[in-house]
Amino acid sequence: MSALNELYDSIRCCEKCEIARSRVKVVPGEGAEDAEIMFIGEAPGFYEDQQGRPFVGPAGKFLDELLASINLNRQKVYIANVIKCRPPANRDPLPQEILNCRHWLNRQIEIINPKAIVTLGRYSMAMFFPQKSISKIHGTAEKRNGKLYVAMYHPAAALHQGNLKDVIKADFLKLPGYIADNARPAEVQEEKKESVPIAKQLNMFED
Ligand code: URA
Repeated sequence: MSALNELYDSIRCCEKCEIARSRVKVVPGEGAEDAEIMFIGEAPGFYEDQQGRPFVGPAGKFLDELLASINLNRQKVYIANVIKCRPPANRDPLPQEILNCRHWLNRQIEIINPKAIVTLGRYSMAMFFPQKSISKIHGTAEKRNGKLYVAMYHPAAALHQGNLKDVIKADFLKLPGYIADNARPAEVQEEKKESVPIAKQLNMFED
C-alpha cells in the first residue's frame, strides 16, 4: 500500500474531535503523490462530507476552472484541507480542531513534498503566514528552504463577493511564473530579480 493510502486509512479512523461524530465521511485529501503543487483549503463542506472528496461543491467547481486556466487539473495537483471533517453547519474550524488535525497535514506535506504550497483562504494562510492579512499578501509568493508558499483567496470568497473573482483569477495566473522562476538556478533568479522593478519585487517575499 502506498504511503498516502496508508495515511488515508489512519485519517479515516481518527475520532479525536467531537465533529468526528457528526461527519458522514472523512475528507483526507486527494491527488497525485508526486504533485508539484499542493493546494490547502479550509474544511469539508456539505458536498465534500457526502462524498469524502475535497472541493466537490460550488467552490470546487471554481477551483477546477482556476486550475484549467493554468493548464492543470486534479490529477496533476494535490488538494487537502486544514481539517478533515466537516464542522456542523459549516462553522469555522475551532483552534483545537486545527491543532488536532495538524499532524495529518504535516504528514501529507512530508509524503508529497511539493515544490509549491498554495493556501486557499485565511485558515490555511494562517498556518504558513501567521500574522499576515490575506488582503495584503494574496497572490504573492514566499520562498523558504527551496519551497514556495503562495497565499490565495479561498475560491468560495469569489462566490460570495463577485468582485474577488477576477482578483483570484489573476492571482492564479501568476502561479506558473513563480514555479518556473523557482526552478531556475539561484544565479539566474538573482539576475532576474535585479531587472524586476522594485515595486514588483516588494510584492514578493524572499528569504
Ligand atoms: N471549502 C474548503 O475549504 N474545502 C473543501 O474541501 C470545500 C470547500
